[in-house]
Amino acid sequence: MTLSRRHLLAGGTLGAGAGAVAGGLGVASLRAAPAPPDTAADFGTATVAYHGPRQSGVTTEPPAHAAFVAFTLPAGTDRRALGRMMRLLSDDAARLTRGEPALGDTDAELAVLPARLTVTFGFGPGLYRAAGVKSPVTDLPAFRVDRLGPQWSGGDLLLQICAEDPLTVTHAQRMLIKDARPFAAVRWVQRGFRRSPGVQRTGFTQRNVLGQLDGTANPTGAVLDAAVWRPDGSTTLVLRRIRAEIEKWDLLSVGDKENAVGRRMISGAPLSGTNEHDEPDFAALDGSGLPSMPEHAHVTRAHVTEPALKILRRPYNYDEAPNAAGQPDSGLIFAAYQADIVRQYLPIQQRLAEKDLLNEWITPIGSAVFAIPPGCAASGWVGEEVLS
Ligand code: HEM
Repeated sequence: MTLSRRHLLAGGTLGAGAGAVAGGLGVASLRAAPAPPDTAADFGTATVAYHGPRQSGVTTEPPAHAAFVAFTLPAGTDRRALGRMMRLLSDDAARLTRGEPALGDTDAELAVLPARLTVTFGFGPGLYRAAGVKSPVTDLPAFRVDRLGPQWSGGDLLLQICAEDPLTVTHAQRMLIKDARPFAAVRWVQRGFRRSPGVQRTGFTQRNVLGQLDGTANPTGAVLDAAVWRPDGSTTLVLRRIRAEIEKWDLLSVGDKENAVGRRMISGAPLSGTNEHDEPDFAALDGSGLPSMPEHAHVTRAHVTEPALKILRRPYNYDEAPNAAGQPDSGLIFAAYQADIVRQYLPIQQRLAEKDLLNEWITPIGSAVFAIPPGCAASGWVGEEVLS
Protein backbone atom coordinates (compact mmCIF):
# COMPACT_ATOMS: atom_id res chain seq x y z
CA MET A 1 0.00 0.00 0.00
CA THR A 2 1.28 3.48 -0.77
CA LEU A 3 0.36 6.51 1.16
CA SER A 4 0.48 9.86 -0.54
CA ARG A 5 2.35 12.64 1.18
CA ARG A 6 -0.37 15.09 0.19
CA HIS A 7 -2.91 12.88 1.93
CA LEU A 8 -0.89 12.97 5.13
CA LEU A 9 -0.21 16.70 4.98
CA ALA A 10 -3.86 17.37 4.32
CA GLY A 11 -4.60 15.53 7.55
CA GLY A 12 -6.52 12.75 5.84
CA THR A 13 -7.75 9.98 8.03
CA LEU A 14 -5.55 6.93 8.08
CA GLY A 15 -7.34 3.74 7.22
CA ALA A 16 -6.75 0.45 8.96
CA GLY A 17 -3.16 -0.67 8.62
CA ALA A 18 -1.94 2.67 7.30
CA GLY A 19 -0.50 3.59 10.64
CA ALA A 20 1.84 0.63 10.39
CA VAL A 21 3.02 1.77 6.94
CA ALA A 22 3.63 5.30 8.16
CA GLY A 23 5.60 3.77 11.00
CA GLY A 24 6.99 6.24 13.47
CA LEU A 25 6.81 9.13 10.97
CA GLY A 26 4.50 11.76 12.30
CA VAL A 27 3.03 14.48 10.10
CA ALA A 28 5.34 17.04 11.68
CA SER A 29 8.49 15.19 10.62
CA LEU A 30 7.23 14.92 7.05
CA ARG A 31 6.68 18.68 6.98
CA ALA A 32 10.17 19.29 8.30
CA ALA A 33 11.75 17.23 5.52
CA PRO A 34 10.43 18.47 2.18
CA ALA A 35 11.65 16.81 -0.96
CA PRO A 36 15.14 18.16 -1.72
CA PRO A 37 15.03 20.86 -4.38
CA ASP A 38 16.94 20.37 -7.60
CA THR A 39 20.43 21.53 -6.84
CA ALA A 40 23.16 22.51 -9.24
CA ALA A 41 26.55 21.18 -8.28
CA ASP A 42 28.35 23.27 -10.82
CA PHE A 43 26.78 24.28 -14.11
CA GLY A 44 23.23 22.91 -13.82
CA THR A 45 21.73 26.37 -13.45
CA ALA A 46 24.14 27.98 -15.95
CA THR A 47 22.35 29.68 -18.83
CA VAL A 48 23.26 30.93 -22.29
CA ALA A 49 21.41 34.09 -23.36
CA TYR A 50 18.66 33.32 -25.87
CA HIS A 51 17.94 36.88 -26.98
CA GLY A 52 20.38 38.86 -29.06
CA PRO A 53 21.18 39.84 -32.64
CA ARG A 54 22.55 36.34 -33.37
CA GLN A 55 21.11 33.00 -32.33
CA SER A 56 23.03 31.10 -29.66
CA GLY A 57 24.27 27.58 -30.30
CA VAL A 58 26.49 28.47 -33.24
CA THR A 59 29.67 30.10 -31.98
CA THR A 60 28.69 29.06 -28.44
CA GLU A 61 31.19 26.51 -27.04
CA PRO A 62 29.41 23.20 -27.83
CA PRO A 63 28.05 21.51 -24.71
CA ALA A 64 28.11 17.75 -24.21
CA HIS A 65 24.72 16.75 -25.64
CA ALA A 66 22.74 17.67 -28.71
CA ALA A 67 19.52 16.75 -30.44
CA PHE A 68 18.97 17.79 -34.03
CA VAL A 69 15.26 17.60 -34.81
CA ALA A 70 14.03 18.17 -38.38
CA PHE A 71 10.41 18.70 -39.34
CA THR A 72 8.39 18.45 -42.55
CA LEU A 73 5.67 21.01 -43.19
CA PRO A 74 2.35 19.67 -44.46
CA ALA A 75 1.20 20.79 -47.90
CA GLY A 76 -0.71 24.04 -47.78
CA THR A 77 1.30 25.56 -44.89
CA ASP A 78 1.40 29.31 -45.37
CA ARG A 79 3.34 32.19 -43.94
CA ARG A 80 0.72 33.00 -41.29
CA ALA A 81 0.80 29.47 -39.91
CA LEU A 82 4.60 29.55 -39.90
CA GLY A 83 4.50 32.84 -38.01
CA ARG A 84 2.17 31.36 -35.39
CA MET A 85 4.41 28.32 -35.02
CA MET A 86 7.63 30.31 -34.68
CA ARG A 87 6.11 32.76 -32.14
CA LEU A 88 5.19 29.79 -29.99
CA LEU A 89 8.45 27.85 -30.40
CA SER A 90 10.61 30.93 -29.91
CA ASP A 91 8.73 31.71 -26.68
CA ASP A 92 9.21 28.13 -25.48
CA ALA A 93 12.94 28.34 -26.27
CA ALA A 94 13.30 31.69 -24.45
CA ARG A 95 11.71 30.23 -21.31
CA LEU A 96 13.44 26.84 -21.34
CA THR A 97 16.89 28.35 -21.91
CA ARG A 98 16.31 30.56 -18.82
CA GLY A 99 15.50 27.48 -16.75
CA GLU A 100 11.76 28.20 -16.74
CA PRO A 101 9.03 25.82 -17.85
CA ALA A 102 7.52 26.29 -21.29
CA LEU A 103 3.90 27.51 -21.28
CA GLY A 104 1.80 24.47 -20.56
CA ASP A 105 4.88 22.50 -19.51
CA THR A 106 3.64 19.19 -18.17
CA ASP A 107 6.84 18.46 -16.24
CA ALA A 108 7.82 21.92 -15.06
CA GLU A 109 10.37 20.59 -12.57
CA LEU A 110 12.47 19.23 -15.43
CA ALA A 111 12.99 22.77 -16.71
CA VAL A 112 14.82 24.15 -13.68
CA LEU A 113 18.32 22.94 -14.59
CA PRO A 114 19.00 24.38 -18.06
CA ALA A 115 22.69 23.36 -17.99
CA ARG A 116 23.66 25.84 -20.70
CA LEU A 117 20.69 24.91 -22.88
CA THR A 118 20.54 26.51 -26.31
CA VAL A 119 17.81 26.12 -28.92
CA THR A 120 18.83 27.17 -32.42
CA PHE A 121 16.29 27.37 -35.24
CA GLY A 122 17.15 26.56 -38.85
CA PHE A 123 14.93 27.08 -41.90
CA GLY A 124 15.24 24.69 -44.85
CA PRO A 125 14.50 25.58 -48.48
CA GLY A 126 10.96 24.15 -48.11
CA LEU A 127 10.07 26.61 -45.35
CA TYR A 128 10.94 29.55 -47.58
CA ARG A 129 8.92 28.01 -50.41
CA ALA A 130 5.90 27.71 -48.11
CA ALA A 131 6.37 31.31 -46.97
CA GLY A 132 6.68 32.52 -50.56
CA VAL A 133 10.12 33.98 -49.89
CA LYS A 134 13.36 33.36 -51.81
CA SER A 135 15.48 30.85 -49.87
CA PRO A 136 19.01 31.87 -48.90
CA VAL A 137 20.03 28.17 -49.02
CA THR A 138 19.67 25.41 -51.60
CA ASP A 139 20.25 21.68 -51.26
CA LEU A 140 23.81 20.48 -51.85
CA PRO A 141 24.57 18.74 -55.14
CA ALA A 142 25.10 14.97 -54.97
CA PHE A 143 28.68 13.86 -54.27
CA ARG A 144 30.07 10.54 -55.40
CA VAL A 145 30.94 9.55 -51.82
CA ASP A 146 27.32 10.03 -50.72
CA ARG A 147 25.17 7.09 -49.63
CA LEU A 148 22.36 9.26 -48.33
CA GLY A 149 19.26 7.83 -46.70
CA PRO A 150 16.00 9.80 -46.59
CA GLN A 151 15.70 9.02 -42.86
CA TRP A 152 18.62 11.39 -42.16
CA SER A 153 18.20 13.93 -44.95
CA GLY A 154 16.38 17.16 -45.73
CA GLY A 155 13.95 19.04 -43.54
CA ASP A 156 11.91 22.26 -43.63
CA LEU A 157 12.56 23.30 -40.04
CA LEU A 158 15.42 22.33 -37.74
CA LEU A 159 15.75 22.60 -33.99
CA GLN A 160 19.29 22.20 -32.70
CA ILE A 161 18.94 21.63 -28.97
CA CYS A 162 22.19 21.53 -26.98
CA ALA A 163 22.92 21.30 -23.24
CA GLU A 164 25.44 19.83 -20.85
CA ASP A 165 22.82 17.35 -19.69
CA PRO A 166 20.86 14.75 -21.70
CA LEU A 167 17.73 15.00 -19.52
CA THR A 168 17.57 18.74 -20.14
CA VAL A 169 17.86 18.11 -23.89
CA THR A 170 15.15 15.44 -23.73
CA HIS A 171 12.75 17.69 -21.87
CA ALA A 172 13.27 20.68 -24.17
CA GLN A 173 12.90 18.39 -27.20
CA ARG A 174 9.63 16.98 -25.85
CA MET A 175 8.12 20.41 -25.12
CA LEU A 176 9.18 21.89 -28.46
CA ILE A 177 7.95 18.92 -30.50
CA LYS A 178 4.63 19.03 -28.62
CA ASP A 179 4.10 22.67 -29.57
CA ALA A 180 5.32 22.15 -33.16
CA ARG A 181 2.98 19.18 -33.68
CA PRO A 182 -0.07 21.12 -34.89
CA PHE A 183 2.12 22.72 -37.59
CA ALA A 184 4.77 20.22 -38.66
CA ALA A 185 5.66 16.51 -38.52
CA VAL A 186 8.92 15.19 -37.13
CA ARG A 187 11.06 14.01 -40.03
CA TRP A 188 14.13 12.77 -38.17
CA VAL A 189 15.94 13.16 -34.86
CA GLN A 190 19.68 12.78 -34.44
CA ARG A 191 21.16 12.65 -30.94
CA GLY A 192 24.85 13.37 -30.48
CA PHE A 193 27.41 13.76 -27.74
CA ARG A 194 30.80 15.17 -26.96
CA ARG A 195 32.97 14.93 -23.84
CA SER A 196 31.17 15.73 -20.59
CA PRO A 197 32.12 18.94 -18.84
CA GLY A 198 34.81 18.53 -16.21
CA VAL A 199 36.34 15.56 -18.00
CA GLN A 200 39.07 17.66 -19.56
CA ARG A 201 40.04 21.29 -19.23
CA THR A 202 38.00 23.71 -21.33
CA GLY A 203 39.78 24.98 -24.40
CA PHE A 204 41.40 21.60 -25.10
CA THR A 205 40.55 19.97 -28.42
CA GLN A 206 38.26 16.96 -28.07
CA ARG A 207 38.67 13.55 -29.63
CA ASN A 208 35.96 12.11 -31.88
CA VAL A 209 34.83 8.47 -32.05
CA LEU A 210 37.74 7.71 -34.40
CA GLY A 211 40.15 8.82 -31.67
CA GLN A 212 41.29 11.92 -33.59
CA LEU A 213 41.70 15.36 -32.09
CA ASP A 214 38.93 17.15 -33.97
CA GLY A 215 38.56 20.93 -34.13
CA THR A 216 42.20 22.05 -34.05
CA ALA A 217 42.10 24.29 -37.12
CA ASN A 218 38.70 25.83 -36.42
CA PRO A 219 38.75 29.62 -36.82
CA THR A 220 38.61 31.73 -33.65
CA GLY A 221 38.08 35.38 -32.68
CA ALA A 222 37.59 37.92 -35.45
CA VAL A 223 38.26 35.33 -38.20
CA LEU A 224 35.49 33.13 -36.79
CA ASP A 225 33.06 36.03 -36.62
CA ALA A 226 33.71 37.13 -40.18
CA ALA A 227 33.54 33.57 -41.56
CA VAL A 228 30.29 32.64 -39.84
CA TRP A 229 28.05 35.68 -39.46
CA ARG A 230 26.37 37.78 -42.10
CA PRO A 231 25.84 41.47 -41.30
CA ASP A 232 22.17 40.84 -40.42
CA GLY A 233 23.11 38.22 -37.77
CA SER A 234 22.16 35.20 -39.87
CA THR A 235 24.32 32.25 -40.92
CA THR A 236 23.89 28.84 -42.56
CA LEU A 237 24.25 25.24 -41.44
CA VAL A 238 25.26 22.15 -43.39
CA LEU A 239 24.44 19.03 -41.41
CA ARG A 240 25.91 15.74 -42.61
CA ARG A 241 25.53 12.39 -40.88
CA ILE A 242 28.81 10.64 -41.60
CA ARG A 243 29.20 7.01 -40.65
CA ALA A 244 32.64 5.96 -39.46
CA GLU A 245 33.76 2.61 -40.85
CA ILE A 246 35.28 1.81 -37.48
CA GLU A 247 35.90 -1.89 -38.09
CA LYS A 248 38.09 -1.00 -41.08
CA TRP A 249 39.70 1.92 -39.26
CA ASP A 250 40.67 -0.49 -36.45
CA LEU A 251 42.78 -2.47 -38.91
CA LEU A 252 45.09 0.50 -39.60
CA SER A 253 48.42 1.12 -37.91
CA VAL A 254 48.82 4.43 -36.12
CA GLY A 255 51.06 5.61 -38.96
CA ASP A 256 48.39 4.84 -41.57
CA LYS A 257 45.76 6.68 -39.52
CA GLU A 258 48.08 9.68 -39.33
CA ASN A 259 48.72 9.67 -43.07
CA ALA A 260 44.99 9.60 -43.81
CA VAL A 261 44.43 12.79 -41.85
CA GLY A 262 47.86 14.48 -42.02
CA ARG A 263 48.11 14.88 -38.26
CA ARG A 264 49.53 12.85 -35.36
CA MET A 265 47.03 10.78 -33.42
CA ILE A 266 48.48 11.59 -29.96
CA SER A 267 49.28 15.28 -30.25
CA GLY A 268 47.21 16.38 -33.24
CA ALA A 269 50.35 18.03 -34.65
CA PRO A 270 50.55 18.28 -38.45
CA LEU A 271 52.95 15.70 -39.89
CA SER A 272 55.15 18.66 -40.92
CA GLY A 273 55.37 20.03 -37.33
CA THR A 274 55.67 19.14 -33.67
CA ASN A 275 52.83 20.86 -31.81
CA GLU A 276 49.06 20.69 -32.31
CA HIS A 277 48.71 24.32 -33.32
CA ASP A 278 51.73 24.49 -35.66
CA GLU A 279 50.61 25.62 -39.11
CA PRO A 280 50.85 22.68 -41.53
CA ASP A 281 53.69 23.22 -44.01
CA PHE A 282 52.53 21.70 -47.30
CA ALA A 283 55.94 22.32 -48.94
CA ALA A 284 57.93 20.43 -46.27
CA LEU A 285 59.53 17.12 -47.31
CA ASP A 286 60.18 14.12 -45.10
CA GLY A 287 63.39 12.07 -44.90
CA SER A 288 62.60 10.22 -48.11
CA GLY A 289 61.90 13.40 -50.09
CA LEU A 290 58.11 12.99 -50.08
CA PRO A 291 55.74 15.73 -48.85
CA SER A 292 55.44 15.53 -45.04
CA MET A 293 51.75 16.36 -45.45
CA PRO A 294 50.51 13.64 -47.84
CA GLU A 295 48.97 15.17 -50.96
CA HIS A 296 45.61 13.45 -50.43
CA ALA A 297 45.43 13.58 -46.63
CA HIS A 298 42.18 14.98 -45.22
CA VAL A 299 43.83 18.15 -43.86
CA THR A 300 45.77 18.81 -47.09
CA ARG A 301 42.59 18.55 -49.13
CA ALA A 302 40.38 20.46 -46.67
CA HIS A 303 42.83 23.25 -45.82
CA VAL A 304 41.68 26.80 -46.46
CA THR A 305 44.09 29.74 -46.21
CA GLU A 306 41.76 32.65 -46.98
CA PRO A 307 40.23 33.60 -43.58
CA ALA A 308 36.86 34.62 -45.06
CA LEU A 309 36.48 31.19 -46.68
CA LYS A 310 36.94 29.12 -43.52
CA ILE A 311 34.06 27.20 -41.96
CA LEU A 312 33.21 26.48 -38.32
CA ARG A 313 33.01 22.75 -37.65
CA ARG A 314 30.82 21.92 -34.61
CA PRO A 315 30.52 18.13 -34.83
CA TYR A 316 28.85 15.75 -32.38
CA ASN A 317 29.53 12.02 -32.16
CA TYR A 318 26.78 9.46 -32.52
CA ASP A 319 26.78 5.85 -31.40
CA GLU A 320 23.72 3.69 -32.03
CA ALA A 321 23.15 0.02 -31.26
CA PRO A 322 25.54 -2.29 -33.13
CA ASN A 323 24.12 -4.39 -35.95
CA ALA A 324 23.33 -8.10 -35.66
CA ALA A 325 26.98 -8.95 -36.33
CA GLY A 326 28.04 -6.73 -33.43
CA GLN A 327 29.56 -4.08 -35.68
CA PRO A 328 29.34 -0.51 -34.38
CA ASP A 329 27.01 2.09 -35.87
CA SER A 330 28.96 5.17 -34.99
CA GLY A 331 30.18 8.37 -36.58
CA LEU A 332 29.79 12.11 -36.67
CA ILE A 333 26.83 14.43 -36.89
CA PHE A 334 28.99 16.89 -38.78
CA ALA A 335 27.62 20.42 -38.36
CA ALA A 336 29.36 23.16 -40.34
CA TYR A 337 28.46 26.84 -39.99
CA GLN A 338 29.47 29.46 -42.53
CA ALA A 339 28.12 32.75 -43.87
CA ASP A 340 27.79 31.34 -47.39
CA ILE A 341 27.51 27.64 -48.26
CA VAL A 342 28.36 28.09 -51.94
CA ARG A 343 31.50 30.17 -51.40
CA GLN A 344 32.80 28.45 -48.26
CA TYR A 345 31.46 24.94 -47.71
CA LEU A 346 31.00 23.65 -51.25
CA PRO A 347 34.59 23.99 -52.53
CA ILE A 348 35.92 22.11 -49.48
CA GLN A 349 33.30 19.38 -49.80
CA GLN A 350 33.99 19.06 -53.53
CA ARG A 351 37.75 18.65 -52.95
CA LEU A 352 37.10 16.04 -50.24
CA ALA A 353 34.58 14.11 -52.35
CA GLU A 354 37.02 14.07 -55.25
CA LYS A 355 40.02 12.85 -53.27
CA ASP A 356 40.52 12.39 -49.54
CA LEU A 357 42.35 9.41 -48.07
CA LEU A 358 39.87 9.49 -45.16
CA ASN A 359 37.00 8.63 -47.56
CA GLU A 360 37.98 4.98 -47.22
CA TRP A 361 36.85 5.11 -43.56
CA ILE A 362 33.91 7.54 -43.60
CA THR A 363 30.56 7.49 -45.48
CA PRO A 364 28.06 10.36 -45.64
CA ILE A 365 24.62 8.84 -44.98
CA GLY A 366 22.55 11.97 -44.33
CA SER A 367 22.57 15.56 -45.52
CA ALA A 368 20.55 18.72 -44.92
CA VAL A 369 20.99 22.49 -45.26
CA PHE A 370 19.39 25.23 -43.23
CA ALA A 371 19.51 28.99 -43.06
CA ILE A 372 19.94 30.14 -39.47
CA PRO A 373 17.94 33.37 -39.22
CA PRO A 374 19.13 36.19 -36.95
CA GLY A 375 18.40 36.09 -33.24
CA CYS A 376 15.66 38.19 -31.71
CA ALA A 377 15.08 40.83 -29.03
CA ALA A 378 13.15 39.95 -25.85
CA SER A 379 10.07 41.50 -27.45
CA GLY A 380 10.46 39.55 -30.70
CA TRP A 381 10.74 36.00 -32.01
CA VAL A 382 13.15 34.11 -34.23
CA GLY A 383 12.06 34.23 -37.86
CA GLU A 384 10.10 37.49 -37.58
CA GLU A 385 11.99 39.18 -40.48
CA VAL A 386 10.94 36.35 -42.80
CA LEU A 387 7.50 35.45 -41.48
CA SER A 388 5.78 38.51 -40.05
C1 HEM B 1 33.50 11.80 -40.29
C2 HEM B 1 33.94 12.80 -41.03
C3 HEM B 1 35.15 13.64 -40.69
C4 HEM B 1 36.15 13.40 -39.81
C5 HEM B 1 36.35 12.18 -38.91
C6 HEM B 1 37.04 14.53 -39.87
C7 HEM B 1 38.20 14.66 -39.13
C8 HEM B 1 39.05 15.77 -39.18
C9 HEM B 1 40.26 15.89 -38.42
C10 HEM B 1 40.80 14.85 -37.45
C11 HEM B 1 40.82 17.06 -38.75
C12 HEM B 1 42.16 17.63 -38.23
C13 HEM B 1 42.04 18.39 -36.96
C14 HEM B 1 41.19 19.63 -37.05
O1 HEM B 1 41.62 20.68 -37.56
O2 HEM B 1 40.05 19.55 -36.61
C15 HEM B 1 39.95 17.71 -39.70
C16 HEM B 1 40.18 18.94 -40.27
C17 HEM B 1 39.33 19.56 -41.14
N1 HEM B 1 38.19 19.02 -41.70
FE1 HEM B 1 37.41 17.21 -41.29
N2 HEM B 1 36.55 15.43 -40.78
C18 HEM B 1 35.39 14.92 -41.30
C19 HEM B 1 34.59 15.50 -42.26
C20 HEM B 1 34.80 16.74 -42.81
C21 HEM B 1 33.92 17.39 -43.76
C22 HEM B 1 32.62 16.78 -44.31
C23 HEM B 1 34.44 18.60 -44.03
C24 HEM B 1 33.94 19.69 -44.93
C25 HEM B 1 33.29 19.50 -46.04
C26 HEM B 1 35.65 18.72 -43.24
C27 HEM B 1 36.46 19.84 -43.24
C28 HEM B 1 37.62 19.97 -42.50
C29 HEM B 1 38.41 21.18 -42.46
C30 HEM B 1 38.12 22.49 -43.20
C31 HEM B 1 39.50 20.91 -41.63
C32 HEM B 1 40.64 21.87 -41.28
C33 HEM B 1 41.73 21.78 -42.31
C34 HEM B 1 42.86 22.73 -42.01
O3 HEM B 1 42.78 23.89 -42.45
O4 HEM B 1 43.80 22.34 -41.33
N3 HEM B 1 35.85 17.58 -42.53
N4 HEM B 1 38.88 16.89 -39.95
